[in-house]
Amino acid sequence: MPGRFITFEGIDGAGKSTHIEAVAAHLCEGGHSVVSTREPGGTELAEALRKLVLHTPMDALTETLLIFAARRDHVANLIAPAMARGDVVLCDRFTDATFAYQGAGRGFDPVVLMQLETWVQGDLQPDLTLWFDLDPPLALRRAASARSPDRFEQQDVDFFERVRAGYRTRQEQHPDRFVRIDAAREQGEVRRQVVAALQARKW
Ligand code: TYD
Repeated sequence: MPGRFITFEGIDGAGKSTHIEAVAAHLCEGGHSVVSTREPGGTELAEALRKLVLHTPMDALTETLLIFAARRDHVANLIAPAMARGDVVLCDRFTDATFAYQGAGRGFDPVVLMQLETWVQGDLQPDLTLWFDLDPPLALRRAASARSPDRFEQQDVDFFERVRAGYRTRQEQHPDRFVRIDAAREQGEVRRQVVAALQARKW
């Protein structure tokens, strides 16, 4: 597909959201057509599933299947068509989050996750993943000051240590597309790291 697919990852409170807008602006200035979206979500059906996943009590298997169901609709109806048009798709979280949160965080079998991944998205993978990495205690303090917590934000620091380790494993498995951003630095410096990752690819 002619487009480009960039994903943004990290534990809750790592501060990725503010930088997605900056990346969108940078790419628009460069003449690209940019589509910004998020997971779970991005389509009407997937946004409805997001509400359930974030706020309704359920077990890890149900949670995982709903996230992949949302992803299926999102890939088929938004991401793949945008990529086919040649757009740049910016996605706030994608399947790396499932390996980190449901896999490492909840303890769900990664071999099953890999099967679901292939089933739902075929060979679609991000071209670039910006991983905003931050110490869980610091991230939790930042997240605590934002609105009322969803099912994930209510988890304890041990959960986020496992999620962080899950992201680290994903980076080791996919070093070509995975770029670690040190999110503990001040905002201007974080932004410089983000822009450098794009410029390294001449984007
Ligand atoms: P998040 O992306 O942090 O949005 P907001 O900034 O509005 O809180 O919220 C999505 C939550 O969903 C986040 O806590 C992580 C979780 N999540 C998973 O557990 N697995 C997934 O595959 C995805 C995409 C998200």
